[in-house]
Amino acid sequence: MSMQDKIKELLELRAQARLGGGEKRIEKQHQQGKKTARERINMLLDEGSFEEFDMFVTHRCTNFDLDKESYLGDGVVTGYGSVDGRLVYVYAQDFTTFGGSLSETHAAKICKVLDKAMKVGAPVVGFNDSGGARIQEGVTSLAGYAEIFQRNVLASGVIPQISAIFGPCAGGAVYSPALTDFIMMVKNKSYMFVTGPKVVKTVTGEDVTVEELGGATMHATKSGVAQLVAENEEEGIKTIKRLLSFLPSNNMESPPEIEPTDPIERVDNALNEIIPDSPKTPYDMKRVINSIIDNEDFLEILPDYAKNIIVGFARMGGMPVGIVADQPLHLAGVLDINASRKGARFVRFCDAFNIPLITLVDVPGFLPGTGQEYGGLILHGAKLLYAYGEATVPRLTVILRKNYGGAYCVMSSKHMRGDINYAWPTAEIAVMGGKGAIEILMSKEIKKIEDADKLAEFMDTKEAEYREQFANPYVAAKYGYLDDIIEPRNTRYRLIKALKSLQSKRLENPPKKHDNLPL
Ligand code: HXC
Repeated sequence: MSMQDKIKELLELRAQARLGGGEKRIEKQHQQGKKTARERINMLLDEGSFEEFDMFVTHRCTNFDLDKESYLGDGVVTGYGSVDGRLVYVYAQDFTTFGGSLSETHAAKICKVLDKAMKVGAPVVGFNDSGGARIQEGVTSLAGYAEIFQRNVLASGVIPQISAIFGPCAGGAVYSPALTDFIMMVKNKSYMFVTGPKVVKTVTGEDVTVEELGGATMHATKSGVAQLVAENEEEGIKTIKRLLSFLPSNNMESPPEIEPTDPIERVDNALNEIIPDSPKTPYDMKRVINSIIDNEDFLEILPDYAKNIIVGFARMGGMPVGIVADQPLHLAGVLDINASRKGARFVRFCDAFNIPLITLVDVPGFLPGTGQEYGGLILHGAKLLYAYGEATVPRLTVILRKNYGGAYCVMSSKHMRGDINYAWPTAEIAVMGGKGAIEILMSKEIKKIEDADKLAEFMDTKEAEYREQFANPYVAAKYGYLDDIIEPRNTRYRLIKALKSLQSKRLENPPKKHDNLPL
């Protein structure tokens, strides 16, 4: 063969690999409203930046006559490229080849990407669209999954790992995405479950659809598995790019700063009026977040799950930050099991990747009740406490209104290494709310009052006295537990100044093998 012929052969093989399982199956994929693996990668990466690995890999299985059917690339497209000029490793399962099912060699390709990304410290984005373990292969496929899981675990906290679920993801296959930092799902086109509807019917007798059991909406609202959800693949990939823009490439780098286009000293007079006169009246914490961050550019994580706490990424003065905020509009911003888990995971992610934390507090405490206690609120609440307690990134706290009980300690208090803790003059800091406190402290006096009107009057007076004494920030400020009490309209400016002052913060936890986070 001449050199020209050899080059021609190479180009033909490349063209063949690019067709995956063939034109018919690509057409079927498109008919289902799904993009192919290569289309997804091209949408994610900067134009022309994709460098592919392992295009000529094929499976080695001979069971079920599989040696008679093989495709170049073996059902997954892997490699690296750039997103907004920054290096990103990528893999995309190709449903047109054996249903994107995972063989030994398919797994080895994914492992290679994870290994290379770890070596150079770059994020990995994985597109999942697969029928699961390659049935014909049996245990070598399971071994392949385990090899991936192990790498996901070792990469956790070292490089950001993002899983895009753009098709089926079932059985043990769900555990690779579950080990990564973020799961993005597409509405009505993707699903995740450990066992499918048929097995569920056999085991529990329940009749459920695929969408009800593991669709994007379910995971975004009920299970909290899908931190991000998109209407379609294009939107999903746009959001992943946006997410990457807030993140450093690895845990040794700072998150990427940009030149701010929103004035740092911008004040918002409306914030001076946002807290209602009645402590029982809610207001929208998102209004506060959007006011203090740059250009109202807030990427909310898990927006439809445990809405009583808001978490997400933003920039302040061009610096990426993680925002954690109680939301008085939902359950009065109370901390319950789901809110604690949601907050804890976010705080830990930010801490692992050097992203400063801004905590905006308006919390009446932890949610009482058997439902919560039976569900283990003690351990789940402790996760948030633990996450803040171990976080060494710059931490700024603003108490806007309520900050009662254990929640005072949890929400990045001074005593748990909050760096700069501010309060608005509307802050109320106490062991518990006025009514509950009076009922406990004055139970004898209350019992003696038989007349209902007199009792109401007594309670009102005592509650007012209690609020006068405790429901303000000045007691905490007197002890130095607050660094300052600030005018609400200046919050953005004051926080950005504080953030800048903490850029060279150094704080390390004692060396240990690993921690023992309450699980
Ligand atoms: C081999 C598979 C496959 C698999 C699909 N295909 N799944 N090949 N192993 N796991 C092949 C099909 O034979 C078909 O080949 C092509 O992929 C497309 O599949 P269809 O069934 O035609 O597609 P669709 O109708 O869209 O259905 C998609 C599906 C279904 C719902 C995912 O394929 C399915 O139920 N697959 C099996 C899922 C499963 O039970 N997997 C094992 C789970 S256990 P042709 O040649 O016709 O194109 C598991 C354990 C992991 O994964 C453990 C990790 C620790």
